[in-house]
Amino acid sequence: MAKQLNRKPKGKIGNRPDESVRVLISHANIRRRVREIAQDVRRDFPDEPIHLIGILKGSVFFLADLARELGGEVSFDFLGVSSYGHGTDSTGEVKLTKDLEVAIEGRTVLVVEDILDTGLTLKFLIKLFEERKPKHLRVAVLLDKAERRIAKVNADYAGFTIPNEFVVGYGLDYDERYRNLPDVCVLQIGPCTKSKAQ
Ligand code: IMP
Repeated sequence: MAKQLNRKPKGKIGNRPDESVRVLISHANIRRRVREIAQDVRRDFPDEPIHLIGILKGSVFFLADLARELGGEVSFDFLGVSSYGHGTDSTGEVKLTKDLEVAIEGRTVLVVEDILDTGLTLKFLIKLFEERKPKHLRVAVLLDKAERRIAKVNADYAGFTIPNEFVVGYGLDYDERYRNLPDVCVLQIGPCTKSKAQ
């Protein structure tokens, strides 16, 4: 479980007056954990070319850091899905907004996701990719809100288990904002200290 750091993130946040953020996982801890995940993946597939599929847009920093830590032959592609409207609550509905550019048949594929919450998005993705007959299909998520799970899915590689709070930063957004924070932070909305997602 990620330890709460309770400090302000580095740099200008540019948030609105009724929103505030506190660091949950520092950038240094993220980078350390990403390195470990890359080592685990390479231990499982030492000589295979690995094809990363980043799920837009939240996974972009995770994919960029993971790709550089992996070593060996690595390629990547992106898939767009929308599972949240404008806010912190899931609609439970998953829509494909951008398909892959190259076929994955016969390839060793690692799906790279920012966060596993209800699991509905991952369930949709696994079905979609399995139908395309990859040689291996594995999933790496940076964050896992295990207690929120509805669908029966798990990641093969998971960075941090986090509490049920709405998080932003390191690619994760709230209405497209906060993606550029280097740390993963808990977003608090409104004058009280309770986050809206609870
Ligand atoms: P799931 O389908 O409920 O597992 O949700 C997966 C997607 O919801 C993620 O890829 C994120 O885009 C989004 N999401 C879930 N929880 C959070 C959060 O705490 N902050 C930002 N986005 C989130």
